[in-house]
Amino acid sequence: MAALNVNINNLELKNPVMTASGTFGYGLEFADFVPLDGIGGIIVKGTTLSPREGNDYPRMAETPHGMLNCVGLQNKGVDYFCNNIYPQIKGIDTNMIVNVSGSSPDDYAECAARINTLEHIPAIELNISCPNVKDGGMAFGVTCEGASSVVRAVRARYDKTLIVKLSPNVTNIADIARACEAEGADSVSLINTLMGMSIDIERRRSRLSIGTGGLSGPAVKPVALRMVWQVARAVKIPVIGLGGISTASDAIEFLMAGATAVEIGTANFIDPAVTIKVRDGIGEWLDVHGCSSVTEIIGALKD
Ligand SMILES: Cc1cc2nc3c(=O)[nH]c(=O)nc-3n(C[C@H](O)[C@H](O)[C@H](O)COP(=O)(O)O)c2cc1C
Repeated sequence: MAALNVNINNLELKNPVMTASGTFGYGLEFADFVPLDGIGGIIVKGTTLSPREGNDYPRMAETPHGMLNCVGLQNKGVDYFCNNIYPQIKGIDTNMIVNVSGSSPDDYAECAARINTLEHIPAIELNISCPNVKDGGMAFGVTCEGASSVVRAVRARYDKTLIVKLSPNVTNIADIARACEAEGADSVSLINTLMGMSIDIERRRSRLSIGTGGLSGPAVKPVALRMVWQVARAVKIPVIGLGGISTASDAIEFLMAGATAVEIGTANFIDPAVTIKVRDGIGEWLDVHGCSSVTEIIGALKD
């Protein structure tokens, strides 16, 4: 069997398949359906300094080959996470990674600093790309200055692996990735959701309470793949690719485009064991093609 382990700077993953934030709860919810320790990393729900109610319902709508959501980072805040969730998940034998969001650089940094104290959380993923919140969120991820300000503030107070999650709702994603790298990010992950909309013509209303939402699922995959390819050529730090992955061949496309690892989001709603199936499918593909390690196909796209 080909070796599947990869490194995101100092973070060692037993295989390159992780779950995407907001689509896999805290992992525990899926424990009856999938062996959690078989996943390369679990990126838990978005966490903020203070509790957030999220947006009004409806906040999800199905679209062709995808879905829109405007959940709006509903969570009970970082202290609740540290005191109540962390004790339940710290024993899971994989990389448990917290997705952090905020409304100012200080907000992000304070939240990150509290998570820095948790021994069994080896990394955070900074969400500077949430399209569904009014204050902060995506606003930081759409300019180089905004992205730099958050990464700089967090880097000063967080010394473990720092992954920055990028927004696709920008003109030049490579520039934003370079700005994050320059401020000390260990890795960038992309993409978060693409801003979209769906209208119920009988009611003449949007299908989402706040009008717009974030598009995810297979429909976004070609856009995500193109952006991962662009970013992987622009930075030296490892890139984590996501957006519409639901099969091993989808994941292999991202790896060939230059991603060191991948995340799977919306596909977990269709098949809660999809991560393990994708992991095994990558292994089988490598064996059939005579590769001894998954690292042989990272960035292996030919001109
Ligand atoms: C219901 C839902 C909730 C999400 N919540 C978060 C979140 O809290 N933080 C975050 O960074 N991304 C969040 N995302 C975005 C996903 O992590 C991922 O970037 C996006 O869905 C694209 O991947 P996919 O096509 O595999 O789902 C959410 C996505 C969905 C569908």
